[in-house]
Amino acid sequence: VADALDELLRGAAANPRVIGLAGGLPCPTLFPRRELTAAFLRALQTRDVPALQYAWPEGFPALREHIAARLARRGARVKADEIIVTSGAQQAITIAAQLVVRRGAAIGVDAETYPSALDAFRSLHLIPTTSPQTRVIYRMPAVSNPGGITMDDSQRRAALAHARFIIEDDAYGDLRFGGEPPVPLLATSRSRVLYVGTFSKTLGPGLRVGFLIVPAALHTRALRRKADDDLQTNSLSQAIVQEYLAHNDFDAFVQRLRRHYRRRAERLMAAVRRHLPAWSFQPPAGGFGLWVSADGRADEAAFLRRSIDAGVSFDPGSRFLTEGVARDQPTTLRLCFSAVPEDRIEEGARRLARAWTRLRSRAPARRARRRSGALR
Ligand SMILES: Cc1ncc(COP(=O)(O)O)c(C=O)c1O
Repeated sequence: VADALDELLRGAAANPRVIGLAGGLPCPTLFPRRELTAAFLRALQTRDVPALQYAWPEGFPALREHIAARLARRGARVKADEIIVTSGAQQAITIAAQLVVRRGAAIGVDAETYPSALDAFRSLHLIPTTSPQTRVIYRMPAVSNPGGITMDDSQRRAALAHARFIIEDDAYGDLRFGGEPPVPLLATSRSRVLYVGTFSKTLGPGLRVGFLIVPAALHTRALRRKADDDLQTNSLSQAIVQEYLAHNDFDAFVQRLRRHYRRRAERLMAAVRRHLPAWSFQPPAGGFGLWVSADGRADEAAFLRRSIDAGVSFDPGSRFLTEGVARDQPTTLRLCFSAVPEDRIEEGARRLARAWTRLRSRAPARRARRRSGALR
C-alpha cells in the first residue's frame, strides 16, 4: 500500500546519489550468477527436469529432498514429502496463518516484527498482538527481523509452553554470523510448529522459492491452499534451485555470505557508534539490518525526507512496530548494511547524523514558536 513513506523510499531507491540503508535487500554482488546461469541452462536443456511444465502443488521431489537433507543437518528430521515448496516465505506465512488462525482471532507476534507478515495477517482479518496469551504465535527464533536477535533457551521454552501452534519463520536462519544456526523449533515439536524457510536471502529473492512444513494433520489442507492460491511454485525457479543445489556446495556458499554480512554489520555498528554515539542498538546475531533507537523523538516522515535530502535512506521504525509508536517512545529505525557498497557505510552514517542533528536543532525552535503563537 503506497503511503507517504513508501513514496519517499521509492524515490530514494531510484536515486543513485542516495546511500541505501533501507529495504532489507540481499547484496546484489553476492548472488551466485554464474552458478545460477549454469543451473538455468541445465534446467532447460535436461528433458527429465520439467522446467517448463506444470508440476504438482507440493513442488519438485528432488528439490524437496535437498531441503530435507539440509534441515536434517540443522537437527530437524522431516521427510521430503512433508515439505511444500512455496512462492517465497511470504506465501508460506500466509498459508500457515490461514490454517491455524480463524478470521477475527489474535495471533501473537513480537513488539517489533517483519512488516509484511503484519500486513498479511491483517489482510486475512487476523489481529496481530504482543499479548503472550494467544493460541498461535509467529516467531523468528534463529534470527529476527528487524532486530537480528536469536531467541534464548528460556524464550524458546516459553514459546513452546504457551502456544498451541507456532509459525516459525526461519528466513534468516542461514545467515547467523557466528556459530551454527540453532536447531529449529520444528525439531522439538512436529505437531505444533509450522515451519517457514526460503532461498530468498541466499540465492536471490527474485527466484521466489520458499518452503513450508506443517503438522501432518494439516498437510492436506495446506496443499489445498497452495493449489488454490497459484497451483504450484514456478517450475523454472524450482528447476534452477534444484540444479544449483545438485551441483554446488551451498553450505560453503552460505558460510561466505555469513562472513560477508558479519563484516558489513560490524562496519555499520562502528560507524553508528562514531557518528551517532547517543543512539543505541543491540548487536545483531545475523540478518541484514541493525535495529536502532535514536536519542529522542522526531517526526518520522520529516526525518526520512531530511535524510534522503542529505543522501541516505533508512527503514522507518513504525513499519515494524506491532502496536504502533508508543507515546514518548524514541524514534526507531532499521539500518540495512546488506546491500549498500561496503565503502559507503561510513558516509551513510555520517549523512544520517547530519540529518538528525539538523532536524533536532530546528525542532525546539519550531515548538517554541508554536507555543508563543498559541499564547498570543
Ligand atoms: C522475516 C522474513 N520472513 C519472510 C520474508 C519473505 O521472504 P520471501 O522473499 O522468501 O517471500 C522476509 C523478507 O524480507 C523476511 O524478512
